[in-house]
Amino acid sequence: GKGLAVFTSGGDSQGMNAAVRSVVRMGIYLGCKVYFIREGYQGMVDGGDNIEEANWSSVSSIIHKGGTIIGSARCMDFIKREGRLKAACNLVTRGITNLVVIGGDGSLTGANLFRQEWSSLLDELLENNRITKDQREKYKYLHIAGMVGSIDNDFCGTDMTIGTDSALHRIIEAIDAIVSTAYSHQRTFIMEVMGRHCGYLAVVTALSSEADFVFIPEAPPSVDWKDKLCDKLEQERRSGQRLNIIIVAEGAIDREGKPITAELVKKVVVENLKQDTRITVLGHVQRGGSPSAFDRILGCRMGAEAVMALMEATPETEACVVTLDGNQAVRLPLMDCVHRTKAVAKAMADKNWDLAVQLRGRS
Ligand code: F6P
Repeated sequence: GKGLAVFTSGGDSQGMNAAVRSVVRMGIYLGCKVYFIREGYQGMVDGGDNIEEANWSSVSSIIHKGGTIIGSARCMDFIKREGRLKAACNLVTRGITNLVVIGGDGSLTGANLFRQEWSSLLDELLENNRITKDQREKYKYLHIAGMVGSIDNDFCGTDMTIGTDSALHRIIEAIDAIVSTAYSHQRTFIMEVMGRHCGYLAVVTALSSEADFVFIPEAPPSVDWKDKLCDKLEQERRSGQRLNIIIVAEGAIDREGKPITAELVKKVVVENLKQDTRITVLGHVQRGGSPSAFDRILGCRMGAEAVMALMEATPETEACVVTLDGNQAVRLPLMDCVHRTKAVAKAMADKNWDLAVQLRGRS
């Protein structure tokens, strides 16, 4: 059977285990020899026990677990050619020419570069007698399929990344808990949520928790935001509301690009309204805990589709990423999605927020 390996890279997210499980079982079902690569690219470079053959039962009882049981890492060695040479050697000597990578845009870009360089890596390995002529010929093509695991939902080309829905469950649970204590003391709470440079978690949180105000990176508020915020909070209190909730995305900025932090918002509220105000930073709680049903199914569907994409790949097939379009698992050219994701980052850096939002939209 064909050699296929799965690894997780970059920050973990809930639902990655469901994806790993699905890749392993679909791979075995289709007759492949399936391997785990532990600790992301680092495990691929280090080889040894980090690359281990998987069987049907080695992925039992993981679908409900958060994080990634095969580990993840940010790897400096893979950035250097020597590291990639070692990684290629580790794969070829095990007959692995199909890779499923579950990670963010950086991890997917790394996989694509590896694929483009594959031939020259193999030539160098052959020259140095690290692989045989037969191996050079037999494993001359490397196929890549990606899936996006991230709580941030910041990748272009997919409606949802694996982990986002579970993070929202964590956040909403926490806000509901905060609301009862805020109500009792007539307090104002400022909740900071993750998302890096993406405001998706913050917007969905604000909508589903009846928050009074939300700050996100893609829509910096007008220069008079402090007055607007205070007016809104006061108006809600006047109309009988006993508490206020403000959501701040960790990447929130003003029109000059300066961070709008939970501390800054608190200062504004306290100085102007003298409200009893507290900050809750949810932090990594958002990335932990068991995956939601949605993320489990998403991981399962994407994993199966990724394996099918690899089995159908020809030498000419470009690396793909499996994404969610409506309710369909689809395959898109990996680098198109990565380039669009990078274009969003550039538009944000250029303070062209309308363009960023437009680029983030579907297709
Ligand atoms: O990308 C996922 C994420 O949790 C972001 O929301 C956050 O900004 C970042 O990772 C935190 O990174 P670390 O786990 O390295 O502190």
